[in-house]
This record gives sequence, C-alpha cells and structure tokens, in this order.
Amino acid sequence: SGAQDTDADDLFEQELRRANAEMINEHPARVLRAFKQLTHKHPHQPAAHLHQAQALEQLATKTNNKQLLLDAIESYKRYLAFEPTSIGNDVEYCDAAARCIEHLRSLGQLQSTVAIHKQLIEYFPHEVKQRNQLTLTQLIFNNLLAVQQLAAETLKIWPQDALAQLYYGLALKQLTADYAKALPFLEYAIASEAAGTQQAYFYLMLGETLQRLGQQRKALEVYRRGVEKNYFASIYQRSLYNVPELRAQPFWQPEETGYAEQLQQLQRHWREIRNEALGLLSRAGYFEDETEQLRDTGKWQQFELFVRGQQLARNCQRAPLTCRLLQQFVAASRCTRGQVKFSAMQAHTHVWPHCGPTNTRLRAHLTLQAPQPELTRLRVAQQERTWHEGDLLIFDDSFEHEVWHNGTQLRLVLIVDFWHPDLSPQQRQRLHPI
Ligand code: LMR
Ligand code: MN
Repeated sequence: SGAQDTDADDLFEQELRRANAEMINEHPARVLRAFKQLTHKHPHQPAAHLHQAQALEQLATKTNNKQLLLDAIESYKRYLAFEPTSIGNDVEYCDAAARCIEHLRSLGQLQSTVAIHKQLIEYFPHEVKQRNQLTLTQLIFNNLLAVQQLAAETLKIWPQDALAQLYYGLALKQLTADYAKALPFLEYAIASEAAGTQQAYFYLMLGETLQRLGQQRKALEVYRRGVEKNYFASIYQRSLYNVPELRAQPFWQPEETGYAEQLQQLQRHWREIRNEALGLLSRAGYFEDETEQLRDTGKWQQFELFVRGQQLARNCQRAPLTCRLLQQFVAASRCTRGQVKFSAMQAHTHVWPHCGPTNTRLRAHLTLQAPQPELTRLRVAQQERTWHEGDLLIFDDSFEHEVWHNGTQLRLVLIVDFWHPDLSPQQRQRLHPI
C-alpha cells in the first residue's frame, strides 16, 4: 500500500499544481472552482486547505472583496486544525496562523483570534513570541486587564522579555495610573529596540509616563527620538493618524480656517447654547466623566452631541437648538474624525499634557461660562490662552495641550471639531473614522 500512497500523493501534488496554475489565468471563478474541487476530493491534505486559503486571500486583496476574505479565513482555519506535527513544517504553520490572525484582528473578531493564539501557545509552549502575540491582540482590542494578566504571566517565565515588559508597563500606565511602577518596564523595553517595541504609540506612552512623573526633560528626549524615527511630526505635534503637509500651528484665527462664517453663526447664539447646556448640567446623569485617564486632579465632564460625524439622537433631542445650529456647519457635524460636545470643567482641575489622535481636524471652543479667565489656562505647544465668555478659541489638538482650572467656579465650553481646511472633499470622504 506504500506504493499506492505515493501514487495518491503524486496525484494530489499534480492537482494542487493545476489549481494553483489557475491563479495565473486570473479567472476568479475558475480558481475558486479548482480549489473547491481539490479540498473536496482531498479533505485530509493540509496543503489543499493552505493553498486554497492563499488563493482566496490573494483574490480578496485584489478585488477588495470581504466575502472572499472571510472564505480565506475559513480555509486557514481548516488548515490550522491539523496538528503541526502531522504537517511537519512549523514555519509554514506559524506563518499561516500569523496571516489568519492578522485578518481576524482587522475584522474585529476577538474570540476567533484568541482561539488561534491559544492553540499556538499549546503547540509551542516554549516560544515566548506566541504569548506576546496573544497579549498584543488584547492590546489592539484595548482589553487592558487581559493585557496586564497575560504580560504578568509571561514575565513569570521570561522576566527579561522586552515585549512582555512593554505590554505590562502599558497596562500599568493606562489601567492603574501607577506611573512610577510602569516607567522602568516601558524604559527598558523601548531602550532594548527589540522587534515589536519600536512604534510611535509606545514612544508616546513612555513620554506621557515621564511627564506625569514630572520628568519633563527626559520626556522631551523621548519625543525627540520619536521625531528622528519619523513617528511624530514634531516634538509637540504627536498625533498618530496624520495626513502630510497640512498647515500646522497651535492656535488658529477664525478667518484662517475658511469657516469664519459658520463659527460666527455659532458665536452669535452663544447665550442660547449656554442656556441649553446649563439646563442639561442641572440634571443628574446627563454629563459623563472623561474616561481616557487624561485628568490629573479635579472633575471634568462631557455631554456629546455628534461623534465621528454621527448625531447622537437622544442627546440631540435634549439639546435641539445647539444641534440644529450644528447641522448648518457640515464640516463639523459630519466630521468623521471629531466630536461636538459640551465640556464642563470644575474648579481645581488639571488635565495632563496630551495630544489628540489626528492632525486632520481642528478644535474650536465656544466659551459658554468662564467667570475667572485669569485663573484658567489652556497651553497648546508653547503658547497659552484662556477662555472669555462668548469668545471662540481655536486650536489644533494634535499639538500637545494641557489645561489648568485654578478658579472656584465652573468653566463650560462647546467643543466643535471640524475638518482641517486643507483637506479636499475626496480626502475627507476616504479617511477612516476616529
Ligand atoms: C481638550 O481637548 O483636552 C480640552 O480642549 C478639553 C477642555 O474641555 O478644555
Ligand atoms: Mn484634548
């Protein structure tokens, strides 16, 4: 029967080559049919599923077709269901797993991604890489508790591993705000320059950690290195989602934005907008606490009206006048990379230095209540301003900014993000929402 097996294998190899050859002819339907036949006839051949996955993946990329990508993922999963020992090629197996994971991550399918990671960890228990990849998936999905637990487990076995240290430090910073504890992990990992540690986001997190510990000089060094590596536009402008060559300056005048008319139209109604906001503030549970760990001390709350270019129906019903006015300012209300919201800051609040995510929007504050302008400050890069009732403050929040409220009374503003005026309509349409 050995000879028969060899014959069968030869036959399979031939059919596999034939199916692969269909790829050259660029007839998607024929390619799909050839691989369907092949996997149907040889369901126990891992190579049939692998090559089917790769063919589908290639077609999916070329035609930008989501269903083909889903089919490719299913083929990858069928291939990965074989044990690596039965396949006899660990590199090929791990490569396929990595591609499948990449697709699943981009589709937001956490559970399936984790399932593949778990299998890899079981098959390759001595490879720290497999555990770090699982931790990275949890980081991408912003499951910081899982990141912290996984990284801690990894460090028990591999205490010197730079990636595990990086993930552990990140989780500590974002989750527990224990900056002193997080710092050595982040510093060690980034200084190691180990594969996977050199990314803009990680430099940003290390710099922020240093700033929050009062180590401003060291933070600037980190940012300077980030600029050298082309992660940041400048030491002060550290947004991660950027379009090159847009005008970049900390503060803007209404006339410079090209939206002076729309902004002034809002300004003309500032008292009515203020009254609407104050009405909402007086009711418990409408405004929500800021949740991004940006606050050092104090109390800072928001009430959102438009998010990523979508109006929040329930909140707009509660602020109909403001929302109606914003409908007229389409570059703001339809800006998929910004928000429109009321921002209420109580006395004795300090907001840590931070950068917005993108240089593709500008941020206007329409000041609704600011009884003590001399006791409040907004720093953007190296310039400072304060709020005056009824006035507009326009800044580019991709630059580092910091807020102090050392007064005794509430400061209330309407935050209006709008598209950077240098972006064409086509660019605005193509940019993915943030
Ligand atoms: C910020 O973007 O961090 C500030 O504009 C928020 C605020 O309310 O001052
Ligand atoms: Mn901000």
